[in-house]
Amino acid sequence: MADNFAPFLREFCLGRVKLSRVASQFLHNMVELLHGLRDCLYAEAEMHGPLVPIEPPRGFAQKITNLIPTEHPVRAFSSLEDLRHYVETSILVPIDAMRTSAVFGEGSAQARIMLVGEAPGADEDRLGRPFVGRAGKLLDKMIAAIQLSREELFIANILKSRPPSNRNPEPQEIAAHLPVLYKQMALIQPDFILCLGKVAGETLLNTKSTLGSLRGKVHDYHGIPLLVTYHPAALLRNQRWKRPAWEDLQLLQKLYITGPALQ
Ligand code: URA
Repeated sequence: MADNFAPFLREFCLGRVKLSRVASQFLHNMVELLHGLRDCLYAEAEMHGPLVPIEPPRGFAQKITNLIPTEHPVRAFSSLEDLRHYVETSILVPIDAMRTSAVFGEGSAQARIMLVGEAPGADEDRLGRPFVGRAGKLLDKMIAAIQLSREELFIANILKSRPPSNRNPEPQEIAAHLPVLYKQMALIQPDFILCLGKVAGETLLNTKSTLGSLRGKVHDYHGIPLLVTYHPAALLRNQRWKRPAWEDLQLLQKLYITGPALQ
């Protein structure tokens, strides 16, 4: 019945089915009702998050864990708190000895969306929290614009220590800190990842590319959708990138509302 009914309804909506006036009015009312119901469900989902709890794709945690070298100590950790303690007490590369504070990252351990930036700046180094400077204030506005809050997300960086004078991360620094980020992902098991800026995008996607070609699309990151957008610090420098960044955020919001299936 259901198999035949959907094509029939479609034909009816296209005006290709002849029915009596009464039957036609009845079906018309039913279609209206279904549209109303769909709009209500979307509105609900926008207000409260998805209606159906979404299971993280099977295998994501395992695939990410497989990226961590076998003998690496972070492999054994089973909580974010143990991992944080490891980060705060380990010197993996020289910049770890130069920091005021390690910036482990923060947010919900059950976050469905994980944001990944590049590295802490001066404000983050001072306070030990990610994205708290000028760029962070803009990031807060970007998050609020898609009806989310920091507390619902997990915000991390590729590097957990500030590079001196905010220079670009060195490849060996990225290699040393990346297992920590992988472990964060394996523990949190987000449904989506949003990379803020070229360094985060290139590092996770293991590619060399322009930000323009990385953004605006959904990448498959070990089975979950990953988006790349402009770093908020870049948006502070160049107003022209605000529109494409907004489009990226809207794409993320749409995916978040409709579910994590790769588009
Ligand atoms: N820029 C980043 O990439 N991360 C921060 O935490 C702050 C600024």
